[in-house]
Amino acid sequence: MRIVKIRTRVNGKDIQSEVEPRELLVHFLRENLGLTGVHIGCDTSNCGACTVLVDGKAVKSCTMLAVQVDGREVTTIEGISKNDELHPLQKAFLEKHGLQCGYCTSGMILTSYWLLKNNKNPTEEEIRKNLSGNLCRCTGYQSIIESVKYGAQLMMKEKEKEEQQIEVR
Ligand code: FES
Ligand code: FES
Repeated sequence: MRIVKIRTRVNGKDIQSEVEPRELLVHFLRENLGLTGVHIGCDTSNCGACTVLVDGKAVKSCTMLAVQVDGREVTTIEGISKNDELHPLQKAFLEKHGLQCGYCTSGMILTSYWLLKNNKNPTEEEIRKNLSGNLCRCTGYQSIIESVKYGAQLMMKEKEKEEQQIEVR
């Protein structure tokens, strides 16, 4: 069996690991690193439950090989909260009932996280378009859209607060 060494940064930690060249990123994250917030919902690259950020961009981790993140940075749902406090987008999903079973939720949040980093106040149409590759079998989507809108507000407020703190210093 051929084994390849990779170095990557996952949720802010440097990782060195040995993987098979055919190992999918989703399996590497779940099985080698124990990051089970990355879900597997299909065999067809359709559901988006496995979404993570690679160098800040939302990707379906079942469509990438682990070797492809050599030298790159990966963020999973476990990596977006700070100091054990939920990220504003996570809080928004909780408050606006953006989840039921939660299976799709990490993917929904990370896909939306990527959008909001690039477009802090998206329209509903932009939110829907951005989530078109993520499937939810429970919520009917409206509460997810409302969660992302509310998350955008919370993220803007948090940014303003951080900027005010920098000015005070
Ligand atoms: S598990 Fe990756 S898209 Fe469904
Ligand atoms: S909340 Fe159950 S699949 Fe989306």
